[in-house]
Amino acid sequence: MKRICVLPGDGVGPEVVSSAVMILEQVADKCEFVYADIGQSAYNKTGSYLPAETLDLMRSCDSSLFGAVTSSDAPGYGSPVLKFRKELDLYANVRPVKTLVPRQLAPQIDVVIVRENSEGLYTRNEVVDDAGVTTMRRVTRRGSERIVDYAIAYARANGRNKITCVHKANVLRESDGLFVAVFRDLMKAKGKGLQSEEQLVDSAAMKLVTDPAQFDVIVTLNLYGDILSDVAAGVAGGLGFAPSGNMGPENSVFEPAHGSAPDIAGKGIANPTAAVLSGAMMLDHLGMVEEAQRVEEAVAEFYSSGHLTQDIGGRHGSKSYTDHLLKHLSGADR
Ligand code: NAI
Ligand code: MG
Repeated sequence: MKRICVLPGDGVGPEVVSSAVMILEQVADKCEFVYADIGQSAYNKTGSYLPAETLDLMRSCDSSLFGAVTSSDAPGYGSPVLKFRKELDLYANVRPVKTLVPRQLAPQIDVVIVRENSEGLYTRNEVVDDAGVTTMRRVTRRGSERIVDYAIAYARANGRNKITCVHKANVLRESDGLFVAVFRDLMKAKGKGLQSEEQLVDSAAMKLVTDPAQFDVIVTLNLYGDILSDVAAGVAGGLGFAPSGNMGPENSVFEPAHGSAPDIAGKGIANPTAAVLSGAMMLDHLGMVEEAQRVEEAVAEFYSSGHLTQDIGGRHGSKSYTDHLLKHLSGADR
């Protein structure tokens, strides 16, 4: 039995996560789901955005499935997402983006962005003085090595044969320069048989939109990975299509790449696909490979049979989407 910590969070988080859990329950009878509070909803209940009990539960479970939280500028707010990534040492953020619905004017995309998840600009070290603010951006050899190592292992395990290192070393010569140097060394030492490429982040952003077929796996620093994964999601139809996994040596947390989407929360129209596919990534990670494939197949079947969610101009809301997948998985539509 695998224990999964479910963190619905705020906004559309609970809507998309409940859909994902229903679908996982249908295919994976070896999973037990336990729930924990995070975000504004946790704060209102307990006075903490990430209560210690939540973190303990995440640690003790086999994996976690997280929705999204709404940020706050209230004094004392610290991002619970950055905190659990740090506390659980989730150094790799894996974000696959794939076209499920071919659309006019949008090229097909099938890329996996492997984003460094523990340092860069996300160390939140900002020093304020009278003239302005200085932000420290930390890039370490060890941090760079483990994310490039992860990308190489991921490419091998998933039958992908090209890795593009995305950076801005022409400007950030020392920090991004270190990242690129580590990439070159490790590709030489461990990347035999894999195609290796380097691109500057600005042109990579453009090419993701105009010619995404040239990308296979992208390995990149924290902020670039955050931005590029939303760019890639946009090419695939929107943030409702981008799942992710935060991976560490001991723990893992799977979550849609999107936020709490307050503009559509409570309307029943959020696309659960990113959350459902995050759940499939989790099953795969936990060794339930066949179950993961069944979920992916059900999502693909929904779109390939001509159904569309509202984010891409269709009529399906979260509930009818989920009902369709459940019916398909139960075999009742055959
Ligand atoms: P967002 O990702 O929540 O939404 C951006 C746009 O995509 C919105 O128009 C939204 O309606 C749409 N969208 C997102 N998910 C969708 C889905 N499942 N189906 C259909 N459309 C979807 O980003 P935004 O609006 O910049 O941030 C909202 C809040 O979420 C902020 O408080 C932000 O800080 C927080 N946030 C939280 C994250 C997390 O918990 N991991 C990640 C990103 C943002
Ligand atoms: Mg983001």
